[in-house]
Amino acid sequence: MNPLITRLRLMRQALMTIFSKYRDIMGVFPFSSPAIVGVFLFALITSSLLPELALAKDAGITRRYKFDIKLVRMTRLCHTKGVITVNGKFPGPLVTVREGDNLLVEVVNHVQNNISIHWHGIRQLRSGWADGPAYITQCPIRTGQRYMYNFTVSGQRGTLFWHAHISWIRATVHGPLIILPKPNVPYPFGNPYKEVPIIFGEWWNVDPEAVISQALQTGAGPNVSDAYTINGLPGPLYNCSAKDTFKLKVKPAKTYLLRLINAAVDDELFFSIANHTITVVEVDAVYVKPFDTDTLLITPGQTTNVLLKTKPYFPKANFFMYARPYATGQGTFDNSTVAGILEYELSNFSPFNSTSTKNLPFFKPALPPFNDTSFASNFSRKIRSLASAQFPAKVPQKVERRFFFTVGLGTNPCPRNQTCQGPNNRTKFSASINNVSFVLPTTAILQAYFFGQSNGVYTTDFPNNPITPFNYTGNPPNNTMVSNGTKAVVLPYNTSVELVMQDTSILGAESHPLHLHGFNFFVVGQGFGNYDPNKDPAKFNLVDPIERNTVGVPSGGWVAIRFLADNPGVWFMHCHLEVHTSWGLKMVWIVLEGKLPNQKLPPPPSDLPTC
Ligand code: C2O
Repeated sequence: MNPLITRLRLMRQALMTIFSKYRDIMGVFPFSSPAIVGVFLFALITSSLLPELALAKDAGITRRYKFDIKLVRMTRLCHTKGVITVNGKFPGPLVTVREGDNLLVEVVNHVQNNISIHWHGIRQLRSGWADGPAYITQCPIRTGQRYMYNFTVSGQRGTLFWHAHISWIRATVHGPLIILPKPNVPYPFGNPYKEVPIIFGEWWNVDPEAVISQALQTGAGPNVSDAYTINGLPGPLYNCSAKDTFKLKVKPAKTYLLRLINAAVDDELFFSIANHTITVVEVDAVYVKPFDTDTLLITPGQTTNVLLKTKPYFPKANFFMYARPYATGQGTFDNSTVAGILEYELSNFSPFNSTSTKNLPFFKPALPPFNDTSFASNFSRKIRSLASAQFPAKVPQKVERRFFFTVGLGTNPCPRNQTCQGPNNRTKFSASINNVSFVLPTTAILQAYFFGQSNGVYTTDFPNNPITPFNYTGNPPNNTMVSNGTKAVVLPYNTSVELVMQDTSILGAESHPLHLHGFNFFVVGQGFGNYDPNKDPAKFNLVDPIERNTVGVPSGGWVAIRFLADNPGVWFMHCHLEVHTSWGLKMVWIVLEGKLPNQKLPPPPSDLPTC
């Protein structure tokens, strides 16, 4: 056949697929304005049509996005306020790439606050300058300035997200980051009928920046959010919010891929859909051995892909999906519930066509109690790497460096001539790793390291083990004071690392979702109480442990992880409960360069912001 005709046919086919995709997505997205539709259609065409038709099968392409950071007025719960957004949207725009693509995102800061953007879970192989945490890998983008994030997504596919990485600005500056498999590479779990990003967040009636700055001033625990949101919408269980409800419209007998993202600032969340079982197929952009569950737990910083199989026939009912917190600490938390609605569409052939979907009964899901730590522990034990021939689990079998880090809360003294509202009303809340509460420097650590100017910026004496061992999960010590410093661990290139993170009972045992930049790690073991270096390693799973970027250190327990330090640069590790990060539960790993040219970090881009 004439090759031109073949091409035209292919193009027509592709266009039809796109239009059907577009129609499907419109069914689930709360968009209606024609302008947004136009932009969306354009985005779909550029993102779906070009790679399949115009390009070689394997080589990635370059995808460009522009993020204008701007303040817009927004109303939820009958409160209107200025919200820092990307392109005026909360949650922010969906970024879609394919494995192997190069991503160029130009970020322009039009607000008074400093900004930086982090691509959470992206390995950033030899592109640490684009990682984003302020004062770690870059200085912030100041008002009126711009920075081009430039990196290649390799060896990863699945759901991640992007978010601001400075103070608490990520409360409203975040959005999904979806990495599709390479062209013509199928998902290991089959092709879903439709894919839907579901991003959890919080709504604050006041400015979250004011909340954290006041808390750091007084030393007290910060105020909590006023609502949780699904795709920016709080739902009918809150004041004034019935019209702001996320609706997932589905057809019977289809499989939907829900891409769940917890972008909340301070809250781990349980999630469930009434009368439906979901199948977990991927976490943190790593495929898992599929398992069924009615309820899942997702910490801030984690992402979870699930398959939702709809009922075989129109069920004559609507179903709520709920998310509400898993909270283990002693402080207050936002004990409220976000609800969305799973609604079955009536088909033209349905015998119930005369029934309106309006008057159908609603079913509610049952969620565990807010402090259900045994649910948390059982759920995390179920998650195993797929560990197939195509997607092997490359668990480091031998360990070159072992680390034992305590993670938990503590106190700092109240400055003279000030009153404080932290513990005992004479201290300030703090948090630490191995009793070091990390202090952000005033210049970026990666820059200081790269140009050999560490003096006065950071030191390399971060303790490998607690300096004063104690019964970590027993009665807390009388002295709860932390030390403060900017300390790093230095690792030679390609070191295989084992790290045990131990929760402490100081000011209350608490679950801590620890996130590591620049790497995925394998979760080889976990347990309650104090880690026992003589007995516990025998129980480690070195065959198919889950590989991820954020793991919950169990409340009153420990978790053991392994990773290979094969990515030169400066890599942040911190609790993804932002309140704990603000209090100092963070540190950095510096991974040295290897000998070969492809084991070195290239020099910074010329537009890297300076401090
Ligand atoms: Cu999702 Cu350091 O962050």
